[in-house]
Amino acid sequence: MKLPTVTSIAPTPPRLAERDHLRAWAAPPGTSTLTPVFGQIDHIGVAVEDLDDALDLYRDALGMRQQHRERLESQGVEAALVGVGDGHVELLEPLSPESNVGRFLARRGPGLHHVAYRTADIESAIGAVRAAGLDMIDEQPRGGVQGSRVAFVHPRATGGVLTELVEPAH
Ligand code: CO
Repeated sequence: MKLPTVTSIAPTPPRLAERDHLRAWAAPPGTSTLTPVFGQIDHIGVAVEDLDDALDLYRDALGMRQQHRERLESQGVEAALVGVGDGHVELLEPLSPESNVGRFLARRGPGLHHVAYRTADIESAIGAVRAAGLDMIDEQPRGGVQGSRVAFVHPRATGGVLTELVEPAH
């Protein structure tokens, strides 16, 4: 039997810059002198077609406590937060098909939209992300749900994972 050669199944190696970023992010504890850029996950963002249907699932079927609900015109969404542990799930229904989440739903359908890391100082966190060589979508923080300040990292810098920094309201 003839086995496939290694070269026929080897994935394309990532570009050097991309690989360096991934190595910095993936260094196991104790092997890196870097201070971790992120300390804690704040929430997972989920794109939904209908917020009430989503709450039927998360709140009413799964028993997760609804913490907040808000229409956020600046981001083109109505958001509901349901708690889990120290964090929450952020359910996002688009206010229009042209909004970011609306376009995401049209392209990919409902599902995981972004991951958000909590920071006490968003300006410092943006600086740390940029110092790590990653591009930001938002160089300056903007308003998020519940009076938070947020900024998004460009997904091309994070392996396709839309990544948000969030400084909760104090
Ligand atoms: Co979010």
